Amino acid sequence: MKALILAGGEGTRLRPLTLNTPKPIVPVVTIPFLRYQIELLRQHGISEIILSLSYQPQRIEEVLGDGANFGVRLRYVVEPVPLGTAGAFKNSEPLLDTAIVVFNGDILCELNLTEVIRRHRERRAVATLVLTRVANPSAYGLVETGNDGRIDRFLEKPAAHEITCDTINAGTYILEPEVLDWIPPCENHSFERGLFPTLLKNGRPMYAFISDGYWIDIGTPQKYLQVHADILRRRFSPALSLPTGATNTSDSVVDPSTTIREGSQVIASAVGSGSVIGKNVVIENSVVWSRVTIGDSARLSGCIVGNQCDIGSHASLSRGIVLGDGSMVTSYSRLLTD
Ligand code: GDD
Ligand code: MG
Repeated sequence: MKALILAGGEGTRLRPLTLNTPKPIVPVVTIPFLRYQIELLRQHGISEIILSLSYQPQRIEEVLGDGANFGVRLRYVVEPVPLGTAGAFKNSEPLLDTAIVVFNGDILCELNLTEVIRRHRERRAVATLVLTRVANPSAYGLVETGNDGRIDRFLEKPAAHEITCDTINAGTYILEPEVLDWIPPCENHSFERGLFPTLLKNGRPMYAFISDGYWIDIGTPQKYLQVHADILRRRFSPALSLPTGATNTSDSVVDPSTTIREGSQVIASAVGSGSVIGKNVVIENSVVWSRVTIGDSARLSGCIVGNQCDIGSHASLSRGIVLGDGSMVTSYSRLLTD
């Protein structure tokens, strides 16, 4: 079986971080995000992976290459203009000959994919959607199912009064090639608002697989920090093994090429490569990308710092601050969110 990862979105909710680094390769605990999905697929015997790209495709290809280093074969399909989730899938049609696993390129989950595929075949479904339970489905695709696991209704981004259950589309599907016939060629089309409701209307067998393992969509700064906290505090163990922590850090991962001077503490945080952290700095619950300079006695709590930022000594950055690449923060500055 092959997989296709939808990785063409602009990542608008993660701006400014995604201005130079597309969401599929933002570092999660210092590792480009898609590597977690690639490893999950590999562990379930799927090594032919198509990446469906649109936004900054060359950056993604530069970072992931042909996949040989990760034990898979990656192929890239780039849309001339964004075609939406189903349009992107249709655009890859020449490479899709058998049932295929589709992943949204921004979800991290614990999932027994082998079991999902087995159930898909057993039920002779044309589409199997993995679902997860969330407290508030309004930011997701709500999916109602019957007792036999058959999907009854799909409603993308429901308004508060439309919420009837807590199961949502987890962004992982098994699709038979038949579904390609229901997607118009060369136009913007969505799985969520187009293909899935169409399949239901036409009585095609669509089934749910409800997973109760860890699941998160990393698409907002708050969720991006949350996934770091969950991994670093060991509430979730991803399929990929993580780099080991450095000295004077706790529950943290710091790239070995980064320097941390005396008296500094890094707590439940991730720091990328080639950075220099001065003396008596405190970094907690934060994510610092690469080639960042942090002056003596600075304090960062609950922030995200993009590549090549320069934070002056004694500066203080509080929860929710997100600095885009190349930001300069002068000494003694105080950055607060409301
Ligand atoms: N190639 C390509 N082309 N990929 C796209 C395009 C496109 O035009 N548009 C979006 N994508 C990719 C994004 O990069 C992302 O990986 C995935 O498709 C989903 O897009 P998002 O923009 O992140 O959608 P969402 O998070 O609002 O909602 C989707 O995911 C939820 C789960 O996280 C929907 O599938 C919801 O139903 C679902 O609950
Ligand atoms: Mg998303």
